[in-house]
Amino acid sequence: PDKGLKDYYRDYFPVGVAVGPQSLQGEEAALIKAQFSSVTPENAMKMGPIHPEENRYYWQDADAIVNFAQANKLRVRGHALLWHEQTPAWLFKDAQGKPVSKEVLLKRLQDHITTVVNRYKGKVYAWDVVNEAIADNPQEFLRDTEWYRICGEDFLVKAFEYAHAADPQAVLFYNDYNTERPEKRERIYRLLKKLKDAKVPVHGVGLQGHWSLQEPTEAELRKAIEQYASLGLQVQITELDVSIYPWEKARRAKRPGESDAYTPALEQQQAAQYKMFFRVFRDYKQVLTGVTFWNVSDKYSWLDTYPVAGRKNYPLLFDQNMKPKKAFQEVVTF
Ligand code: G3I
Repeated sequence: PDKGLKDYYRDYFPVGVAVGPQSLQGEEAALIKAQFSSVTPENAMKMGPIHPEENRYYWQDADAIVNFAQANKLRVRGHALLWHEQTPAWLFKDAQGKPVSKEVLLKRLQDHITTVVNRYKGKVYAWDVVNEAIADNPQEFLRDTEWYRICGEDFLVKAFEYAHAADPQAVLFYNDYNTERPEKRERIYRLLKKLKDAKVPVHGVGLQGHWSLQEPTEAELRKAIEQYASLGLQVQITELDVSIYPWEKARRAKRPGESDAYTPALEQQQAAQYKMFFRVFRDYKQVLTGVTFWNVSDKYSWLDTYPVAGRKNYPLLFDQNMKPKKAFQEVVTF
């Protein structure tokens, strides 16, 4: 198509995509340039990849993505300064292999955030500062991680303060998944309200948007956006994809003889789901300041190997040959 997603949505919000350094050449790069106005490094800016040893940073992949973005006038969303996954081995231990104190860990966090945010100051307009800190279990509040065990709730506050000090212009996000499910929504709201009340520099909430043909419902999605926005926060959809499998099926290995075919009926259902999501996004353009897809085309998605390997997924707007799918047409017709 000669018009890209970014053109259809120019008066609404930037449309972004998660990329790795391997996406910056050939057909994939061409598609990114034609369709999107923003990129997120899928892995390159996470603490494990970018800061593998205490006194060594590995900048090459993140720099390549930022340079590509600058050369092609794309915005960059930084992802993620603090997470419990993809953390480097050295982080939580001292030289003797014993857990570090809260003071040491916060100092390490400060060094990390200051160094990374500083390097991309003026080039990365928004950061996912804290990723997935709320527990999956509805009976719990914060997720039981080494960050929490060592620092208590302070790590959250500090992460936002360090990022804000390093780049006062950057828009700072709390990012999470299942943000529309009522029991998680309420806990995320509670956390964000607490941070806002304490004047912590948090400016937005990222709804990852790893969705399916079954959820969220339109009502759940609207309720979530409205409830978070009521705190004066901007909202972004940060990791959008629509799995063709219900969770019960996705999570177990394929059974002998079971078909995983991406049928025309499934493609149609998925297109309808995408249509609904984007209709809702457009309705909230005052508070919804970005929509980012998690991967470029069905040729490669993180869902191909998650939660189990061996179930190919087809969750995006472009097919394995990078051609627009039915869902693309629905998203750009309004
Ligand atoms: O780089 C190594 C490679 O050297 C090695 O040979 C290979 C073998 O497994 O692994 C490669 O690392 C993988 C890395 O992606 C880069 O491809 C890791 O195993 C793999 O676990 C990692 O997965 C990433 C995942 O985060 C980590 O938990 C996915 O690509 C990435 O899409 C995913 O993104 C997350 C967001 O950051 C947060 N929200 C959820 C989302 C999906 O899980």
